[in-house]
Amino acid sequence: MQKPLVKTVLAAPPRRQLHASRARTSAIVRTPQAANRGPGLSAGGLRPYIISMRNVRRIEIRSAVPDDVMMIASVLVSTWRATFRGIISDAYLDAMKVEDQAIGHARRMRIPGAFLVVAVDLSDERVIGFANYGRARSMPPPFDKELYELYLLPEFHGVGIGSALVRTVAGHCREMQASSLFAWVLAGNPNRAFYERLGARAVGQGRVSVGRESLEQIAYRWDDLAKLSGAGSRST
Ligand SMILES: CC(C)(COP(=O)(O)OP(=O)(O)OC[C@H]1O[C@@H](n2cnc3c(N)ncnc32)[C@H](O)[C@@H]1OP(=O)(O)O)[C@@H](O)C(=O)NCCC(=O)NCCS
Repeated sequence: MQKPLVKTVLAAPPRRQLHASRARTSAIVRTPQAANRGPGLSAGGLRPYIISMRNVRRIEIRSAVPDDVMMIASVLVSTWRATFRGIISDAYLDAMKVEDQAIGHARRMRIPGAFLVVAVDLSDERVIGFANYGRARSMPPPFDKELYELYLLPEFHGVGIGSALVRTVAGHCREMQASSLFAWVLAGNPNRAFYERLGARAVGQGRVSVGRESLEQIAYRWDDLAKLSGAGSRST
């Protein structure tokens, strides 16, 4: 039996206002909600919370379930095309298929010790972002947990959903007694400043093969998961 999933509902402005409004938290309400969403997918026993804002558009952050996999794959393909055009070849980006990504993510969802959380727009139950994470695969100790992927549809950028996903991941890693979390980020990724804004430090570099290209990547690491997770409260 898995532990209860993380369930966060944060309210963002309606989509057309997403970039206009930088309003943040006005209240934090705790709700004793818990559910089991399937094998290998629980994000652990963090307490769920609701962030209330004006002009609400409700975004739920919860553990992924197998039915989410096509939407997760669709977010990945859309986000890669929007973010990495000019960094990764057009040929590679244009050849990406949602179906192939879905197969890969369905497989990853079954790996013990790997976790996947999604951000869902409750107005239409659509997955609009996700994060997956687990043990550090590509770095030796003292690297502990790794954030493998973090992607959000472009129209939902800039209202705190990305940070909410990272906080959720950090909280769960902390529960698993992890002391640090890191992520590989392409050196050319225009969103590297997001990691720095959330307190990550660049601690290494390497190369990754994407299709026929070899691209530079930077390892960003967080050493203080209590601070990153907000230790149960929101700091923004
Ligand atoms: C990177 C990403 C997850 C950030 O999510 P987001 O919801 O837009 O970010 P948030 O609104 O939570 O921003 C948190 C803080 O980071 C800052 N930030 C976010 N993206 C930024 C950017 N590209 N440049 C500078 N600062 C940025 C925000 O201004 C905010 O700062 P503030 O607290 O002072 O207001 C999202 O933009 C995304 O999915 N991008 C495309 C895919 C990608 O690059 N993923 C990471 C690959 S490893």
